[in-house]
Amino acid sequence: MQSFQELIAQFTKYFDQLQFPAEPSSLYKAAGHILEMGGKRIRPVLCLMGNELFDTLHPDAFQAGSAIELFHNFTLIHDDIMDKAPLRRGKPTVHTVYGDTAAILSGDVMLINVYERLNKVNTNYQKKLTTVFNKAAIEVCEGQQLDMDFEHLDPEAVDYHSYVNMIGLKTSVLLAASLQMGAIIGGASEGNQEHLYAFGKNIGIAFQIQDDFLDAFGDPEKFGKQQGGDILANKKTFLLLKAFERSNDAQKAELRELLDSAPADKVERVLAIFRDCKLDEWAEVEKERFTALAFENLEKIAVLSNRKEPLKELANYLLNRQQ
Ligand code: IPE
Ligand code: IPE
Ligand code: MG
Ligand code: MG
Ligand code: MG
Repeated sequence: MQSFQELIAQFTKYFDQLQFPAEPSSLYKAAGHILEMGGKRIRPVLCLMGNELFDTLHPDAFQAGSAIELFHNFTLIHDDIMDKAPLRRGKPTVHTVYGDTAAILSGDVMLINVYERLNKVNTNYQKKLTTVFNKAAIEVCEGQQLDMDFEHLDPEAVDYHSYVNMIGLKTSVLLAASLQMGAIIGGASEGNQEHLYAFGKNIGIAFQIQDDFLDAFGDPEKFGKQQGGDILANKKTFLLLKAFERSNDAQKAELRELLDSAPADKVERVLAIFRDCKLDEWAEVEKERFTALAFENLEKIAVLSNRKEPLKELANYLLNRQQ
């Protein structure tokens, strides 16, 4: 068993060998741009860990992990266009450097590369792997559409349950599927696969709660994204939903006014109300609640408990991360 840090290092070495063709350079430079920016590589490492929970690491876990990381980067390029995001991983986003066309097409090429990789895994489990991946990939699109639809809805028309459902789709299912794909490669039983998927789904929800929290309160130097991007886009994050529940009438009126306009101090003013509503405490409680649910799922997996330690360590790192 290896720690998640060791697995990240191993995966990064493997993945960094990936090269795109030289021409047309306007297309492939755009694809190279996002991959060279790095990132935490969490999803492929979840795939490796899912494999290692049940068996020794198989080369197919690296192949499937690369497919998943390419898919993730494809979603990020397109997400940054949708979210009009200027920064990612501390650098200008692909569409701001190379334009929308190259950004859309480089994402598309990466998505096709995903299937080229999935085509290369052992045929004994290829179909199952692709089925799990496809389900997650479709759900990511559904979650992304809900996220965009919510921008135009009144905050009081989006309840917390709808928010959790939306982040479950846009973010958690890919973490969950990454673990399950690794477990399939490791020969896990259906029951163990399901418990591991459920673990990933709950960790993924806590992971997106942390992402939404950092978007507002993170250190932009570490987080690498524009501070308050979600506020500027009127995203219906838990912060805004809870602020509407907890604020007084004057603050509610101010929030409404800010949702309908974009003054230069919009982020600052919304953040002041968020702070007043003590949403940081609330985020901690919710992250802990979903982590506890995840750890219950992990308990149910029928392998020796010391094999589960690296997953617990990764979960704790993800939920307290600043980047
Ligand atoms: C960003 O994911 C998109 C979300 C689902 C929040 P990560 O935080 O894993 O991004 P990188 O790959 O490490 O940059
Ligand atoms: C994005 O959620 C999830 C996907 C990319 C599918 P966000 O829009 O919050 O992700 P970031 O903050 O831009 O990384
Ligand atoms: Mg975004
Ligand atoms: Mg988004
Ligand atoms: Mg975000």
